[in-house]
Amino acid sequence: MLTMKLLETDRLILRNWRETDRELFHEINSDEQVMQFFPMRRNRYQSDQMMDHVRDGISRNGFGFTPVELKKTGECLGFCGIHYCGEELNLPAGTVEIGWRLSPRHWGKGYASEAAKKWLEFAFTKLDLKEIVSFAVRDNLASIAVMKRIGMIADPKRDYDHQSVPKHMPELRPHVFYALTKQQWVSRIGE
Ligand SMILES: CC(C)(COP(=O)(O)OP(=O)(O)OC[C@H]1O[C@@H](n2cnc3c(N)ncnc32)[C@H](O)[C@@H]1OP(=O)(O)O)[C@@H](O)C(=O)NCCC(=O)NCCS
Repeated sequence: MLTMKLLETDRLILRNWRETDRELFHEINSDEQVMQFFPMRRNRYQSDQMMDHVRDGISRNGFGFTPVELKKTGECLGFCGIHYCGEELNLPAGTVEIGWRLSPRHWGKGYASEAAKKWLEFAFTKLDLKEIVSFAVRDNLASIAVMKRIGMIADPKRDYDHQSVPKHMPELRPHVFYALTKQQWVSRIGE
């Protein structure tokens, strides 16, 4: 099982999930504030199952939604990473998204953007991907701010209504779509 460090930034270590992360993983998957823009909340059993699934994917692929660990304290803050998009979005096979979810205790410190920038670098230099995408509920301004901060570009033609969101939650249906190509990333980091 791959549990060692995959990547690091000035303040953070990005690695695979450990048994000791289960409590934090459940916290961020069940907390009302964190899950405001998601239709489901996960109980501990569901959260553990999701963690096993994500952890296996990271072991297999060498990337995924990894824990974000604060170097200074060793604390796990949440997750950030890149991940093959699910089929329900009807995107071309192999499309990779970037995403993040942190405990509210750690919002407002730049950690999500710091980790996400590192994942973009990895995606374009090590995996040589042509494009990374990201999407969020239209009203999820904090997540959209991360996308903009790391240089992703709005692509309104690809905005969509999420079909699997329950009908009684219409506010969670409209999604905005952002993308960044390797070429755009190269020209932007050179600025
Ligand atoms: C999305 C989410 C990770 C964003 O968290 P965040 O703290 O706003 O984002 P960052 O970690 O990049 O931090 C940026 C903020 O830290 C501030 N900051 C403080 N110190 C900083 C530093 N040293 N470096 C950079 N930014 C710093 C920035 O100014 C910015 O604050 P602002 O938004 O008031 O301008 C968080 O809101 C979350 O987990 N939401 C719930 C899950 C979710 O919706 N995920 C996305 C689904 S699509």
